[in-house]
Amino acid sequence: PFAVSCFQKLHKPDRTMAISHCSASTKLAWILALLLILVTTTIQVHCQSPPGFISIDCGFTNTSAYNDSITGIQFDPDSRFVEGGLSNKISAEFIAGSDEQQKTLRSFPNGSRNCYTLPSTTGTKYMLRATFTYGNYDGLNKTRDGSLFLFGLHIGVNFWEAVNMTNWDPSSTIWKEIITVAPANSVSVCLINFGSGTPFVSALELRPLQDLMYPFVNTSVSISYFRRIRFGAATDFITRFSLDPYDRFWEGWPFTYPWIPLNTSSRVRRLPGDNTFQVPEGILQGATTLDTNYSFLEISVGVGPNLDAKNLQLLPIFHFAEINSSNPSRRFDIYSNDELLFADFSPSRFQADSMHQNGRFLHNPTATFRLSKTRRSRLPPLINAFELYSLVRMDNLTTDSDDVNYIKEVTKHYNLARINWNGDPCSPREYSWEGLTCDYSKSNQNPRIVAVNLSTSGLKGGLVISFMNMVSLENLDLSHNNLTGAIPDYQIKSLKVLDLSYNQLDGPIPDSILQRSQAGLLDLRLEGNPICSKVKDTYCSNKKKKTSTVLIAVIVPVVLVSLLVVMGILWKLYWKGKSGDDEDYAMYEEETPLHIDIRRFTYAELKLITNNFQSIIGKGGFGIVYHGTLENGDEVAVKVLMETSIAESTDFLPEVQTLSKVHHKNLVTLQGYCQNKKCLALVYDFMPRGNLQQLLKGGDDYSLTWEQRLYIALDAAQGLEYLHESCTPSIVHRDVKTPNILLDKNLVGVISDFGLSRAFNDAHTHISTVAAGTLGYLDPEYHATFQLTVKTDVYSFGIVLLEIITGQSPVFMDPQTVHLPNWVRQKIAKGSIHDVVDKRLLDQYDASSLQGAVDLALNCVENAAIDRPTMTEVVSRLKTWLPAVSSDKQSTSGTPRRKYSMNTEMPKQFKLMISGVSDAESSFQSSGYTDGNGMSQATIFSGR
Ligand SMILES: *[C@@H]1O[C@H](CO)[C@@H](O)[C@H](O)[C@H]1NC(C)=O
Ligand SMILES: *[C@@H]1O[C@H](CO)[C@@H](O)[C@H](O)[C@H]1NC(C)=O
Ligand SMILES: *[C@@H]1O[C@H](CO)[C@@H](O)[C@H](O)[C@H]1NC(C)=O
Ligand SMILES: *[C@@H]1O[C@H](CO)[C@@H](O)[C@H](O)[C@H]1NC(C)=O
Ligand SMILES: *[C@@H]1O[C@H](CO)[C@@H](O)[C@H](O)[C@H]1NC(C)=O
Repeated sequence: PFAVSCFQKLHKPDRTMAISHCSASTKLAWILALLLILVTTTIQVHCQSPPGFISIDCGFTNTSAYNDSITGIQFDPDSRFVEGGLSNKISAEFIAGSDEQQKTLRSFPNGSRNCYTLPSTTGTKYMLRATFTYGNYDGLNKTRDGSLFLFGLHIGVNFWEAVNMTNWDPSSTIWKEIITVAPANSVSVCLINFGSGTPFVSALELRPLQDLMYPFVNTSVSISYFRRIRFGAATDFITRFSLDPYDRFWEGWPFTYPWIPLNTSSRVRRLPGDNTFQVPEGILQGATTLDTNYSFLEISVGVGPNLDAKNLQLLPIFHFAEINSSNPSRRFDIYSNDELLFADFSPSRFQADSMHQNGRFLHNPTATFRLSKTRRSRLPPLINAFELYSLVRMDNLTTDSDDVNYIKEVTKHYNLARINWNGDPCSPREYSWEGLTCDYSKSNQNPRIVAVNLSTSGLKGGLVISFMNMVSLENLDLSHNNLTGAIPDYQIKSLKVLDLSYNQLDGPIPDSILQRSQAGLLDLRLEGNPICSKVKDTYCSNKKKKTSTVLIAVIVPVVLVSLLVVMGILWKLYWKGKSGDDEDYAMYEEETPLHIDIRRFTYAELKLITNNFQSIIGKGGFGIVYHGTLENGDEVAVKVLMETSIAESTDFLPEVQTLSKVHHKNLVTLQGYCQNKKCLALVYDFMPRGNLQQLLKGGDDYSLTWEQRLYIALDAAQGLEYLHESCTPSIVHRDVKTPNILLDKNLVGVISDFGLSRAFNDAHTHISTVAAGTLGYLDPEYHATFQLTVKTDVYSFGIVLLEIITGQSPVFMDPQTVHLPNWVRQKIAKGSIHDVVDKRLLDQYDASSLQGAVDLALNCVENAAIDRPTMTEVVSRLKTWLPAVSSDKQSTSGTPRRKYSMNTEMPKQFKLMISGVSDAESSFQSSGYTDGNGMSQATIFSGR
């Protein structure tokens, strides 16, 4: 789905035609959307539970469902969705004040894992909520007896969260929510006994979402509810269905001075196509602001004692709409702790703006967020709604679904009720079903069942065929049961051991099995069955069996050992002198799904070229970057992601594919890659001078000259021009910034890090995606409209050019937070243009090219994309100040062209950022299971 070709310009479709076609389809989409709205509203009026809602009142024993008196949603008894557990009622003293669903619960005194299985559609996104009301149902006063009362929740085969009820008021209700993608045709929720109290649950609610909602949630990432607040004056403590058609819980927030509620009855709309969060209009019509004497507003979500604050990874989503009917100037900065997330934000009038960082999880141990009025603003900040989630990694895979279905058929056929045969058969490992052996060796594939031991399990009746359908099954032990009849005739492929000894089997043995047994492919055991009174073959005799087993036991190892020795010798010969590798990683190499003709490295080769991964030159979102030397002496940077998982490779493969297609002197050259179970790595040219950010910050002892700066700007501009103009479809880099501009030994600028780049069919139309990129470099228009074009890169390039001129960061304190373009504009307005120039240049620059460069940079950062130049224009304007060097000569000669004063060793710090990945992105790396506590206290501060 990601085919890029460069330098092969295709004929572009006629523009006018394309446009008229586009507007026609937009109209159609509008009509369809309107129809859909009409249809859904009618459905909601007539039928109370929308389609797809599954609502379960756990422990409810009446056989029929009921409609909840407040929401009208239909709740079903839980018996269809769970096995085991006990139905309980909360204590009489709490019944009166409780919701219907909270009056009963199901507790699980037995078994370490007990699961509910809810039907779902594979690949659909769901919100799942579990509620818990202890209500002293067991009369043991467990929440208040001084001991720990704690159990776990799994979503499918992955850890979701802990439920900690220690010291809770027994009448209180805790809720946990998760937004997740159904991995199969069912979603399971499991309660895990930690040995600190009996797990229980009061209600489960499954709500389908639209696929395009919460776009950062996918099969490997789920998000767990931490807090969801609606501001303004709300009458209910919780707002849910039917105001919110997805039945999310929105908590109302009490406000006291200096907090001031705002409400409107005017429409507050979403931009067409902005369906990411679908905050109900009724919620957006309320907001909270401050008395005008106050300047900042802080939301601090208390991190309860059961939360591991250090590892908490949070994802905030802020919802804003200006609902003050006069047209006020309201601008503010948005911070997570001390990190500026969005600078100088101004809410749109009567239009929803949902601000989030494209699924970036933040490290914020205090869970504090601040909206701070900027100096230009006349009014204090406002906020309409706020969502906060924590990361839940979905790394563990479920058992192969065929295996699951067959083993469930077996369970049903023999009416096996084993306490731990619950949830997924193989996963997670420590909860795998007793008697099963699973194969987990292929880490990116679902585990498979390879052995089933149901010896002495009281099985009665015929031998069920389901076993033989399990294509990975090698060993089946059904000895010492009461199986009767014949062995069914089936083609078994994988089975190596079939132990049916000591049963009541008396029918004939089918040829298919006999032949395999006689050919020595199957170890068949039938002794102790009536059938053995008729036949006297080896499989009916204990004795002969033993001798043959002994023989096998001797011969097989001998043969194997000699084979290994021979192979070892051959291996040594092959690798003679080449590698002193103690581990054989060749077994991990496998076919590549990438059809690209660049060198593919093995893990052993990477080990060799990096000298056993000795020299680390950078760390970033993907992992670690090592220095390496190829056989021919070329230096390379090896970007390695160890212990690969599908989740982490999502950004990696696009980068490989894009890089393998682009060839330009100002774009980093990919030498090769490594992809197998042991590693995922990119090998590209080593850039000895580090990146532009480091070089600009530099030390006090040197500075890039003005001419060098202009050349680097031209290099970067040419790299981008190539991506935009010479590739079909055009490639938008999306993350142009100084850390991503690397420098070779001759100080030639080379653009790197294509992890976020995307190709588009027509460079000049826009495609809506979620926000990406780095704060300070983000195109404001993209922010507002989520329309991504090549002009997004032009904006970021303008910021880079300003950094080159001024030596300042894109966002810095002066003394308040200021965005670089604003700072430059202010300086110029106040006085001379010379005030903006990097002091390190010591006035050694050419004044006319300075004026030109500043004009060009400010032109690139125009708010409206249409006012910005194309990269082609940027390149030609930059060239006019560098007449001395003809660009043709540059591209052909490739010889050093710059005078550079630092021929000595580059200080170490320049290499640190060579990966071109900012540290901020590292937060994706460390996983951690965090615990959002639905009832934790959120506090809101404000200040002058
Ligand atoms: C459950 O059944 C009992 C007795 O049949 C009845 O009194 C009660 O109202 C039912 N509960 C609900 C919620 O329908
Ligand atoms: C539960 O325990 C608390 C604290 O020990 C005690 O104050 C309370 O009376 C107990 N309640 C019941 C119903 O036993
Ligand atoms: C996956 O399974 C492993 C081993 O069974 C377990 O230690 C780990 O916590 C699980 N991971 C998740 C995300 O639940
Ligand atoms: C559970 O909550 C109690 C009381 O708030 C706290 O002391 C305890 O550390 C928590 N335990 C865990 C494992 O979170
Ligand atoms: C088989 O069934 C018989 C009677 O039906 C019973 O006596 C015997 O214990 C059973 N054997 C096993 C191994 O379950």
